[in-house]
Amino acid sequence: MTGITGTSTGMTAYPAAVEALDVRKTYGSGVAETVAVADITARFEKGRFTAIVGPSGSGKTTLLHLLAGLDTPTSGRVVIDGTDISTLSDDELSDLRRDRIGFIFQDFNLLPYLTAEQNIELPFTLRGRHPDRQAIRGIARELGIENRLDHKPREMSGGQRQRVAVARALAGNPAVVFADEPTGALDVKSSRQLLAILRDMASRRGQTIVMVTHDPNAAAYADRALVVRDGLIAADIAHPAAVDVVRVLEQSAEPANTEAGVR
Ligand SMILES: Nc1ncnc2c1ncn2[C@@H]1O[C@H](COP(=O)(O)OP(=O)(O)OP(=O)(O)O)[C@@H](O)[C@H]1O
Ligand SMILES: [Mg+2]
Repeated sequence: MTGITGTSTGMTAYPAAVEALDVRKTYGSGVAETVAVADITARFEKGRFTAIVGPSGSGKTTLLHLLAGLDTPTSGRVVIDGTDISTLSDDELSDLRRDRIGFIFQDFNLLPYLTAEQNIELPFTLRGRHPDRQAIRGIARELGIENRLDHKPREMSGGQRQRVAVARALAGNPAVVFADEPTGALDVKSSRQLLAILRDMASRRGQTIVMVTHDPNAAAYADRALVVRDGLIAADIAHPAAVDVVRVLEQSAEPANTEAGVR
């Protein structure tokens, strides 16, 4: 199912890994209705690293969950690798997520009764495959958790747990990585290491990265920053410098510019 390129500017130099087409998500109804994602059209090209920034409550996590097929839009469509995911059965969708997608969640989602290494190996275990121990050790070393691999999550600090969750998301070599505040619990050095790894995954390995962050310095590692405000894309910044991101975020009192949509 190619040919779904319904974006406003239509620049299609790279194939899309993920596309949102008029995606909307509301909670509740009537006067109690909350519009979490108002109407977003965006394409995420293969091998590119996109940061999603915006104020608290602007709809970033909701958008990420919709893009990853973890949540269903109220209206609109999400297309992953050319497939409209609403056409997939539950099993097909979970296979797609398991085989193609890595997630780094805000709350880590580690299993408490498994060691760090077993947690990291989960994407392999769930697929009935042998873990690539060498690759896993390499990722653990890069993230500075190689001496914590036999610890349970409760025996680790918040930042170490976050790095285990990152290693798990990356170990299976997913085509697309969705990360929600992956540097939120990390110190400056660990943040830089993680961002360098994500940068490298996109540049050298052609993996697609979509990362929600509050940190303009983290967004500056990306090829592009989408600024979300009130459930809409307020700006789309190419090669974002931290100062550009700060400037756009500071304009949040002004009405959102829906023209700025997609690239
Ligand atoms: N399950 C839900 N039920 C009702 N409202 C929800 C639900 N999930 C999110 N919302 C609302 O949708 C809006 C967007 O939430 P979302 O979590 O996407 O924001 P966010 O940009 O990720 O914020 P933060 O930066 O604080 O993580 C918020 O107003 C939130 O209260
Ligand atoms: Mg959030």
